[in-house]
Amino acid sequence: NQLTHVTLTNYSKSEESRELIQKALLENDFMKHLEASQILTIMDCMYPTTLTQGCCVIQEGDDGSTVYVLEEGSVEVTKGEQKLCTIERGKVFGELAILYNCTRTATVTALTDIKLWAIDRQGFQTIMMRTGLLKHSNY
Ligand code: CMP
Repeated sequence: NQLTHVTLTNYSKSEESRELIQKALLENDFMKHLEASQILTIMDCMYPTTLTQGCCVIQEGDDGSTVYVLEEGSVEVTKGEQKLCTIERGKVFGELAILYNCTRTATVTALTDIKLWAIDRQGFQTIMMRTGLLKHSNY
C-alpha cells in the first residue's frame, strides 16, 4: 500500500505548543479515542500556519483535507446563514471531513489574525494506517 511509503515529517514546537495540541486532541470527541502514540505522532507532524482576520479557513461543501488546532485567535463556525459557534485557542476543528470522508460540514472564518497547527489527510491517514499495520503484525 502507498501509505506505508509516505515519509512523515516532524515539525519542531515549543513545549507549550506541544501541550496545547495534545490537550486539544484529547478533548476532541472524535480524536480522544485514538491511541496515545497516535496522538503524539499527529502532534509531531502538525505544521504551523497563519491567516489574517476575515480569511476563510474552511468553506462548507468543499473537499476537505486538513485538520487544525487553533493556537492563537478565534474563528467562527457558520452553516449557510446560521452562526453555529465561536472556537477559541486550544480547540480542534476540520476533523469531520477527514474522519467521515465527507465534504466540509460548515464554513470556518477567522475572527482575528490566527495561528494554527495543521495536518493533511495523507499524514493523518498514514498515522492511522501504520498503527493498524503494527497491531496486525502483533497477532
Ligand atoms: P469539517 O466538516 O471538516 O469542517 C468544518 C468544521 O466545523 C467541522 O469539520 C467541525 O470541526 C466544525 N463544526 C461543524 N459543525 C459544528 C458545530 N455545530 N459546532 C462546532 N463546530 C462545528
